[in-house]
Amino acid sequence: MFATLEQTGATELHVHRDPVTGLRAIIAIHSTLRGPAVGGCRCLHYPDEDAALTDVTRLARGMSYKAALSGLPHGGAKSVILRPDGPFDRVALYQAFGRFVDTLGGRYITAIDSGTELDDLDQVAMTTDHVWGHHGDGLDPSPLTTLGVLSSLEAAVRHQLKRSNFRGLHFAIQGLGHVGADVARRLADAGASLTLADLDTQRSQSLASELGAHWISADAIYDASCDGFIPCALGNVLNANTIPRLRTRIVAGSANNQLGRDQDAQLLHDHGILYAPDYIVNAGGLIRVAMGHHGATRDQIRRKVQGIGETLSRIFREAQQRGLTPARMADHLAEERLQHTSDQAA
Ligand code: NAI
Repeated sequence: MFATLEQTGATELHVHRDPVTGLRAIIAIHSTLRGPAVGGCRCLHYPDEDAALTDVTRLARGMSYKAALSGLPHGGAKSVILRPDGPFDRVALYQAFGRFVDTLGGRYITAIDSGTELDDLDQVAMTTDHVWGHHGDGLDPSPLTTLGVLSSLEAAVRHQLKRSNFRGLHFAIQGLGHVGADVARRLADAGASLTLADLDTQRSQSLASELGAHWISADAIYDASCDGFIPCALGNVLNANTIPRLRTRIVAGSANNQLGRDQDAQLLHDHGILYAPDYIVNAGGLIRVAMGHHGATRDQIRRKVQGIGETLSRIFREAQQRGLTPARMADHLAEERLQHTSDQAA
């Protein structure tokens, strides 16, 4: 357990079991140096507890880096609910999770992530104030996450393909949920052609027929020949098995923890693929909920999210100049910012 904390730099782990509702949940806090730690709640089946622990601590680090590079007064954290195997009372489970979040007194603020819906967060809001992005506050992060993905793709296409729009380009999208489906519609509107895949083939088929796109099985998406691969499903999709199969020049998508291991960023580079670091690409959602709660206007939030592309362009250029991968460059900048905050606090 401590080895996992050390590897990811996470500083706190909170574990809770509620025998009445069957809740089994973990909250990992990476840092509160810049302010209360924010991060979504996943509700998934994990193969074992170690997998859940690794996921939650790596995701917490990503949230710290994302908040630091976005210039937000927040630290990073994440939570996971180990999804019960049998039938369960969703309302009671999320209310119990809210009580767990509340025990941390606001040092952790929860939000949406895979397997959790806005309706679930409404239940969390019944038992704690420390939840952002539910129907009550009207700050659904997904549309702004989409905007950030598109701004990132523009930057990647400009840098790697020397193109200033998406017309005639071909993108492969993995995962057609809140973000992936929205990204697909926006790219189709912009004149791109698409190959779509989701574990739920019904979902792929119906979106493909709506957009006049091509759909393939979930596993075949790695072999799709395209200008950009857009992972919008889950993590660990870029690894030693999948990277050699990719036939793309760009990877930029919303999924968290796309790299199986940090070294896979180098493998992508060696295959001539420009990888846009996930926690920058998907920062739009966090920017929306955090700035929304700090009283920013809609326009101010949109402008900030549209700035994600500029941040990425800078990272691509500096990485090239310094012989680093964009992922290493982004980590380096985020770590510098966290260190600066820590020095100021000392
Ligand atoms: P979602 O849960 O609405 O959609 C995920 C989709 O991926 C589902 O349709 C699911 O069937 C599909 N999927 C799962 N495994 C797959 C696989 N192996 N191959 C193909 N499809 C697969 O999630 P959402 O909200 O769209 O988020 C997508 C990703 O972006 C997640 O990793 C999430 O953590 C990340 N993210 C989302 C944000 C948001 O505002 N929604 C903000 C920041 C990150």
